[in-house]
Order: sequence, then C-alpha cells, then structure tokens
Amino acid sequence: MNIRVIQWATGGVGKAAIACVLNHPQLDLVGCWVHSASKDGVDVGDIIGTAPLGVAATTNVDELLALEADCVVYSPLVPNDDEVIAILRSGKNVVTPVGWVYPDPGNPRHQAVADAALEGGVTLHGSGIHPGGITERFPLMVSSLSSAVTHVRAEEFSDIRTYNAPDVVRHIMGFGGTPEEAMQGPMASLLEAGFKQSVRMIADHMGFRIEPNIRTIQDVAVATADIDYAPFPITTGTVAARRFRWQALVDGEPVITAAVNWLMGEQDLEPAWNFGGRGERFEVEITGDPTVSLTFKGLQPETIAEGLVKNPGVVATANHCVNAIPDVCAAAPGIKTYLQLPLFAGRPAPDLAAATP
Ligand SMILES: NC(=O)c1ccc[n+]([C@@H]2O[C@H](COP(=O)([O-])OP(=O)(O)OC[C@H]3O[C@@H](n4cnc5c(N)ncnc54)[C@H](OP(=O)(O)O)[C@@H]3O)[C@@H](O)[C@H]2O)c1
Repeated sequence: MNIRVIQWATGGVGKAAIACVLNHPQLDLVGCWVHSASKDGVDVGDIIGTAPLGVAATTNVDELLALEADCVVYSPLVPNDDEVIAILRSGKNVVTPVGWVYPDPGNPRHQAVADAALEGGVTLHGSGIHPGGITERFPLMVSSLSSAVTHVRAEEFSDIRTYNAPDVVRHIMGFGGTPEEAMQGPMASLLEAGFKQSVRMIADHMGFRIEPNIRTIQDVAVATADIDYAPFPITTGTVAARRFRWQALVDGEPVITAAVNWLMGEQDLEPAWNFGGRGERFEVEITGDPTVSLTFKGLQPETIAEGLVKNPGVVATANHCVNAIPDVCAAAPGIKTYLQLPLFAGRPAPDLAAATP
C-alpha cells in the first residue's frame, strides 16, 4: 500500500508539494488543510490547476486528525507548535520546511514536540533549502572531500524583484522603508532561529570547538533611484537590499558562515552591492585541503516575470520535504534530522520509473 499523505496549507510550498506527491510512485494524497475559508471544500486539483483529484480541501483540523494517513507535509505561513503536537499525537509523521532542522534538546518547546512524536509513535523531520538543505546537509556532504577544514560557508544571492509576497517584503523584510525600521524589524529574529540551528548542526557534526554565541551580522543598502518592483514602488533612499550573516566563531574568528544577500536588482544600490558577476545562485564553500566549492543554479527563476508566478527555490523546498517521506515514515519515532535519516533521493519521472521503486 502506498504512503498516505496530507498536505497542510496550499501556498507556494504546499502546491508544489502536492505536485511532487502526485509524481511520487510511493505516495498518495488523501487530505489537505487550507487556511483560507474560500478554499474550504474545494477539490485540490482546482487549487493546483489540474484535473479534479477527488480530495477536498478543508479548514477542519479535527477532520484531518481523524483521517487515516501516514504523513503530513506541514507548510503553513506561520508554524504552530500546538498544531504540530496534535498532528504527531494523532499518529502521523510530519515533514516540514518551517523549523526543526536541528532542534536543541534542551529547549522545552522542542522537547514538547519530541515527546508528542514519541507518544504518537511517529517521526518529525525539518527540511527546506535555506535553511534545511543548502545551509547544512550539502555542506556536510561536501566537507568529507576536505581535511583540515578552517571554514564552511553556505550563501544565497537572490534578486528580490522576483519575490511576489508584498506583505512579507515590505513589513517583515523591511524593503521600501527606512534603514532604521529594517534593522529593528522582525526579520533577523525570524530568520536566525532556523539558520543558527543549521550552523550548530555543522559545528557539532564536524566537531568545531565553537564559542557558545552564534554571531549575527545584518546590513542594509538603500536605493539611489526609484526601483521597479512590481508589487510596490521602492523609492529613492529607502531599503533596497539586505544582507544577513550567522557565524560560529573559534577564538573570535568565523569557522562556519550561513549568509543571505537579497538585492532589488544590482543597479541602484548604495553601498553598490552586486552578485559579483556570477548572477543569482546559492554557494557552498569548504575551505580546507583541498578547498572545494559548489554553486547551485536553477533554484532562482530565469526572469523576474517567471519568479512572480512560480519560484524554483520554493518548488525545491517542497520536493526536499516530500522526497524524505518514505524514509521519515520508516524511521524510529522522535525528531530525526539529516544526521539520522538515510541518503534519500528524488524519484524518476513517472514514465521512467521501475515497476517497484
Ligand atoms: N526552509 C526553507 O528553505 C523555506 C523555503 C520556502 C518557504 N519556507 C517556509 O514555508 C512556509 C510556506 O511558504 P510558502 O512559500 O508556501 O508561503 P505562502 O505562499 O505565503 O503560503 C503560505 C500558506 O499558509 C497559509 N496561511 C496564510 N495565513 C496563515 C496563517 N495566519 N496561519 C496559518 N497559515 C496561513 C495559506 O494557506 P492556504 O492557501 O492553504 O489557505 C497560505 O497559502 C513559510 O513558513 C516559509 O517561511 C521555508
């Protein structure tokens, strides 16, 4: 019997996760939670733009908790610990891009979630791309090609003109406002919980003797001219780029860096930040013997217009969660990170798949 999957929320990640479930030979979609009342009762096929799938979306949590299902792909806008605890207690595994990549066992909030997984006899796995993949999973793999490693870096270079989430870009990321508002806004604390877990996973697994405090550095650049961002204007003098770095230190020097560079284009910024001539990308670099680097292309859209409709990085985030499901369902109960799961992979296109995977 195939693994029965419930999709929790149908934003960019949720819709891509449903598509990945439909393409995956071991998975069947059996349920779908939606936040929007307007989607309640709607066939999931209508939500993702395919033929009807015979699965109706619902806003009713109790109905989904009572459903016979093996795993939930949990991708709402805002994570809710109580909701995750209820899902786990109902005996359903959870894969998610909204946290738990490398939770601290000493944190009581994480402990409550871990206890719920044990009570339900199921597993929770935190995934994603950045954090949740490029930040720690892939650097750890690449690091095994080097010895005497002195620095591990994972870094994103993205054009935010492709990001069609005006509320997030304006009010959470602080674009289009004053530098002071941006520096005091919620972005750093929202991001750092996730990125610091990734940095600690690398430190612990590789065995760096890091200082207890992970350093956060944030900078802003302002627009030197009005910038054309489709959802709202970025006017001269307002925030048009942001950079964050989270660094683990040994003797005051960084040994692990996770970083993001979010720019409204490369033309009209002060300071004059740019992508260094190499375009949008994600980079992993292991400084050691030898120094090895890896560049991920294809996770950012080809054009601004394409990105405003569908973002490949969001699709990859969903796929990374869904492709973990068979191994997550087979794992022992509890919270399981990449360090405890086998090397799971993607699946072939349906017409290329073997009869039994
Ligand atoms: N780790 C990573 O690399 C990574 C990458 C991308 C995204 N993420 C995370 O994944 C999550 C989903 O991202 P996304 O791109 O799919 O976002 P999105 O397109 O904005 O969609 C989020 C969905 O959440 C639901 N929602 C809206 N308001 C809500 C609320 N107040 N409470 C609960 N749910 C609400 C809606 O679902 P319905 O449409 O079903 O009503 C909405 O479509 C976010 O938390 C994001 O930070 C992580």
